[in-house]
Amino acid sequence: MMMHITAVKKKKNHAHTDKSRLVGIFLTGVIRRRFIHRLLISAISVSLLLLFAVLSLFAPSPVIENDFIRPRLDSDHQQSPFHVPASGGAYRHDLWNSTNSKLFAACSNAGVNFPKADSKTQPDRYLLIATSGGLNQQRTGIIDAVVAAYILNATLVIPELDHTSFWKDSSNFSELFDADWFVKFLRNDIRVIKQLPNMGEKFVSPHTVRVPRKCTPKCYEGRVLPLLVKKRAVRLTKFDYRLSNMLDDDLQKLRCRVNYHALKFTDPIQEMGKLLVERMRMKSKHFIALHLRFEPDMLAFSGCYYGGGEKERKELGEIRKRWKSLHASNPDKVRRHGRCPLTPEEVGLMLRALGFGIDTHLYVASGDIYGGVETLAPLRALFPNFHSKETLVTKEELAPFVSFSSRMAALDYIVCDDSDVFVTNNNGNMAKILAGRRRYFGHKPTIRPNGKKLNPLFMKKDNMTWEEFASKVRTFQVGFMGQPNELRPGSGEFHENPTSCICQKSGLEVKTGGFSSPQNQTHEVDNKVENRTEKQPAEEDRELSELDYDLDIRKQVELKGTKIDSLPVLMGTDQAEVQVFFSD
Ligand SMILES: *[C@@H]1O[C@H](CO)[C@@H](O)[C@H](O)[C@H]1NC(C)=O
Ligand SMILES: *[C@@H]1O[C@H](CO)[C@@H](O)[C@H](O)[C@H]1NC(C)=O
Ligand SMILES: *[C@@H]1O[C@H](CO)[C@@H](O)[C@H](O)[C@H]1NC(C)=O
Ligand SMILES: *[C@@H]1O[C@H](CO)[C@@H](O)[C@H](O)[C@H]1NC(C)=O
Ligand SMILES: *[C@@H]1O[C@H](CO)[C@@H](O)[C@H](O)[C@H]1NC(C)=O
Ligand SMILES: *[C@@H]1O[C@H](CO)[C@@H](O)[C@H](O)[C@H]1NC(C)=O
Repeated sequence: MMMHITAVKKKKNHAHTDKSRLVGIFLTGVIRRRFIHRLLISAISVSLLLLFAVLSLFAPSPVIENDFIRPRLDSDHQQSPFHVPASGGAYRHDLWNSTNSKLFAACSNAGVNFPKADSKTQPDRYLLIATSGGLNQQRTGIIDAVVAAYILNATLVIPELDHTSFWKDSSNFSELFDADWFVKFLRNDIRVIKQLPNMGEKFVSPHTVRVPRKCTPKCYEGRVLPLLVKKRAVRLTKFDYRLSNMLDDDLQKLRCRVNYHALKFTDPIQEMGKLLVERMRMKSKHFIALHLRFEPDMLAFSGCYYGGGEKERKELGEIRKRWKSLHASNPDKVRRHGRCPLTPEEVGLMLRALGFGIDTHLYVASGDIYGGVETLAPLRALFPNFHSKETLVTKEELAPFVSFSSRMAALDYIVCDDSDVFVTNNNGNMAKILAGRRRYFGHKPTIRPNGKKLNPLFMKKDNMTWEEFASKVRTFQVGFMGQPNELRPGSGEFHENPTSCICQKSGLEVKTGGFSSPQNQTHEVDNKVENRTEKQPAEEDRELSELDYDLDIRKQVELKGTKIDSLPVLMGTDQAEVQVFFSD
């Protein structure tokens, strides 16, 4: 989940920002004129472009004296052949669209043989759940609760949301999601009620129990069904990833109906989200949304080194001590293995290499950035059209949302979802859920850094020309761009790769070949891609998610201050918990 960029202090680099902006405006002007008098002045423009690129990007940055993350676009590397251009190069044609996306359509309707709620719901079985975590972790809990209720032939009571998580959002279900719509949309699948009915005099309260992570349908029938039959109402706690990833297609489609259709944010949230998107579109026809996670504790947990010298080593090392079971870090090794989240600068370089020029507008959803303004400076130099919730709307407009972290996260979710291109530097819940959602709704470009390849490349970049670097980035990112059929069916979490809910349209010619029937929708489009993607499905994602750590851990650290004795136990006894991001 993300908070706001404004948390980041704005100070001395106003001048720098303004300079970049001026240069940006100048450049845009240059580009425009080039189109008008293309033949006459193209040569001059190109030189100007280069000149200003050099001026804006390589001028000593005013933020260097800070010890945090030192921008590498500075005079240290004047001898390096690595010069970042302002323009994205000649790769612009398909930047904003996925090839072959038109050949696919969402398909999550229930089949005719899928028993309906009316015919199967048992009268005296009530399932209650209490979700856990941030907005997106809770979303997976809600989705799985619906499927669990379906499996158990139970009536689902509207889920209780987590008010005690790290994020401490007091919103209940109906303040985040349209509850009436949820009930109505799912009426054929399960019965949903708003609260437990009067269960009679002898009934005290629902029986509370926790199911294991990734519990299968059999596991529900074995563990929960008997309780449900006996106690009539069962409440499952800490409900997030409590149902197995792999399920029959029928049940996976039900997951999609919940995730992509039944769960709709409330009108005020939808409207504010729409307003943010409109304000972005007023600035630019297309935009990129970036979900950036670069919080100090996330970085400490990663064990990577981000270039901030002794100060960084000390600060992150101190935070890292919270997790007693973590070994002393070996930053080089972690980086070689591709497990370091991209820095803001690296995200910017990747985007430029993929073809996004300096005129591209960027919406940034992020929490507290380690090093703040200084860390963001190189990214802002690459993409001066830099926006966030706080820059797009007024304080007054944002007021109803600011004190509710989940509602703020919902706004970012909407803008990221509506963006033309979505990019992340992390593999948390929000990144995964949005990646899947964007596949389902037409394979909108979704760039997820191939850390394993990019980490070593970034280490070597100062010995390369830009062209070499950019060409490598483009090669390494094949299979990580949100294109159809990048992932093998069944790889990754279902909600990031909802293959059961994406079908090939019939009656369309496939130019590239390699397709078969709709049932075989998930085969590769292109043999080149096939060989690449075979190598990089779930395992690589897993590696990044090993950086993940559970909300519980953070919560305990936060709430109990120094009293963290229970942490190693937690980490030792339930490794699965550690895999869940502390946030979205
Ligand atoms: C992307 O594809 C859509 C649907 O075909 C089309 O309407 C849109 O213009 C395309 N966008 C770009 C930037 O090519
Ligand atoms: C749920 O209802 C269906 C249809 O009546 C039945 O086949 C199935 O065994 C029931 N499952 C449970 C767990 O009650
Ligand atoms: C949700 O919160 C609102 C406002 O605080 C309250 O009116 C409503 O009863 C709550 N609903 C539930 C199910 O707790
Ligand atoms: C760059 O090349 C020089 C000379 O070949 C070498 O010593 C240095 O280690 C290289 N640096 C990186 C980051 O690869
Ligand atoms: C799907 O592909 C397999 C082989 O790849 C083939 O045997 C099968 O008949 C195909 N299914 C359909 C429905 O065409
Ligand atoms: C894919 O890999 C196989 C075996 O490694 C090879 O025979 C085939 O030619 C490759 N296909 C492409 C398009 O590279």
